[in-house]
Amino acid sequence: MRKFARASVAVAAVAMLTLTACSSRDDAETPAGDDDTAATTGFDAGSVIGVALPSKTSENWVLAGDLFTNGLEEAGFEGDVQYANASSPVADQQGQIQSMITKGAKVIIIGAADGGQLSTQVEAAKEAGAVVIAYDRLILNTEAVDYYVAYDNFNVGELQGQALLDGMAARGEGPYTIELFSGSSDDANSAVFFDGAMSVLQPAIDAGDVVVGSGQTDIKQTATAGWKAENAQSRMDSLITSTYSGDTELDGVLSPNDTLARAIITSIQGAGKTVPVVTGQDSEVESVKSIMEGLQYSTINKDTRNLVAAAVQMVTDLSEGKDIEVNDTESYDNGVKVVPAYLLPPQIVTKENAAESYKDDPTLFPLTQE
Ligand code: BGC
Repeated sequence: MRKFARASVAVAAVAMLTLTACSSRDDAETPAGDDDTAATTGFDAGSVIGVALPSKTSENWVLAGDLFTNGLEEAGFEGDVQYANASSPVADQQGQIQSMITKGAKVIIIGAADGGQLSTQVEAAKEAGAVVIAYDRLILNTEAVDYYVAYDNFNVGELQGQALLDGMAARGEGPYTIELFSGSSDDANSAVFFDGAMSVLQPAIDAGDVVVGSGQTDIKQTATAGWKAENAQSRMDSLITSTYSGDTELDGVLSPNDTLARAIITSIQGAGKTVPVVTGQDSEVESVKSIMEGLQYSTINKDTRNLVAAAVQMVTDLSEGKDIEVNDTESYDNGVKVVPAYLLPPQIVTKENAAESYKDDPTLFPLTQE
């Protein structure tokens, strides 16, 4: 049986994430049905299914909305798909979930704008008899989340950390100087991505093979509020001024996603410096182009079509009163319970394997052939 590191998210204080215990887990498939797992007696075709998505902070969220609308309709349900407004995402999403409950939604699928601020709403959803599924991002601090469906976030981080090391090794000998960026601290995924990456990078840092030039290694120092490109760009600008003036070299940047990777590259190019090895995530069109041009080094293929399909399958199974397929019942502790999860495997993508990785993707594959 394969063993690998796992992350456990614990909540130290409201909206404050601390990543704790790392141990190993069995990769065995565990059927649902323990005490923590929601069972339904099923519901009718045509039932309302709510889908609450965060603001459109990356292409995958935009795509997910359309896929949910079509996928739920094809599966015979009435999808109510809503996005939180970028200017007031938390309040907006709270209101949208409340209105899904009022409409009698049987299942509410949530990509949280802020995973720590939804307990009141998901508890109301449970009260009303709905099943709550956390989609892509975990919902924290509440018993009222039944399932989690996501790509394996810890593995995403591990792949990013390894890609950073591989990319730098391919360009020359160490020791290497790097900088670290992480995602928004209100997204439970951010700490998991970062911990996954650090599980690979820390040994290299401890061995002196890799140096974080600025010394900023704490997740709080590396965070990017709201996953906003402008915040990553301005932090990179400041790092260049403080640490990389003149000819001082920067060999690599750990970027948690593609939007931030492009902002970091823009900042470095603006300063007239050579673009280092920069990681990413999401396989956004502009980043795949950049990888093919030899600028951004890597991204992660987390095909949104598969993730939405897995969530829609959960809805279908719930409607038929079937057990829900989960494959991880240990890793995702939301602060008060371990949420049974169905995790999909992410894939690292560099220029080398892009054509192979996107061979079934009609949008991305052509970009690898130009
Ligand atoms: C998702 C990433 C995405 C980020 C910003 C995360 O929760 O897992 O795919 O890049 O949010 O939208």
